[in-house]
Amino acid sequence: MHIGLIMDGNGRWAQKRGLPRDAGHIEGMKALKRIIRYSATVPEVDCLTLYVFSTENWRRPQVEVKYLMNLLASRTVAETPFLRENGVRILVRGDLSGLPQKPRQALEKLVADTAGGKNLTCVLAVNYGGQDEIVRSVNRFIQAHPGQAISADDIRQNMDVQVPPPDIIARSAGELRLSNFLLWDSAYAEIYSSPDLWPDWDSAQIDEVIRVFKSRNRRFGGL
Ligand code: FPP
Repeated sequence: MHIGLIMDGNGRWAQKRGLPRDAGHIEGMKALKRIIRYSATVPEVDCLTLYVFSTENWRRPQVEVKYLMNLLASRTVAETPFLRENGVRILVRGDLSGLPQKPRQALEKLVADTAGGKNLTCVLAVNYGGQDEIVRSVNRFIQAHPGQAISADDIRQNMDVQVPPPDIIARSAGELRLSNFLLWDSAYAEIYSSPDLWPDWDSAQIDEVIRVFKSRNRRFGGL
């Protein structure tokens, strides 16, 4: 199964402890590693898509944007052995052309260096917006097939990555919105919201996501 994860609540986790927001992102990174390590061992989970940085996150204070970009570039390099040891293949979904050079190159290298991962595919949504992805997909199609009408299959085939749509989208920190995440592919996704802040996530929350998914009755528009 494919789980989409909206990792929310790093800031609130830090605020509750009187710490700077950066401390929340560091803990969020640790939670991300726990979740990846665990998911790679669970046979039912074959793909995670992680909402790392949205097309709207550029509106955050410049210092925070800079911090997240640096974290992304440095962790991408530092965690390559961890990802390879756990058999994780990384893919990137989003507009990489809009990223600073360092994180962009680091991500491109990470995708190449983890291409052999067999236990789990992790799609990092970076500079990602669901609306932006649809627009870029349509534009790719128009460039290749000027004047032709586009189909739903064409839209899927021109997206950034070719992975199945998520079976369930899970969000931490209690919010009940998609926030521009996987808009096209969420058509039939189950939705789950956990009250737990992202830095508090561990294997128990992933077990709960799987349990919730199995308890839902999926009809895909049928009876
Ligand atoms: C949210 O909490 C999350 C993010 C800004 C994105 C996810 C980032 C990480 C999990 C850590 C860093 C990982 C990488 C790979 C760079 P928030 O800041 O929106 O929390 P708040 O809503 O409580 O303020």
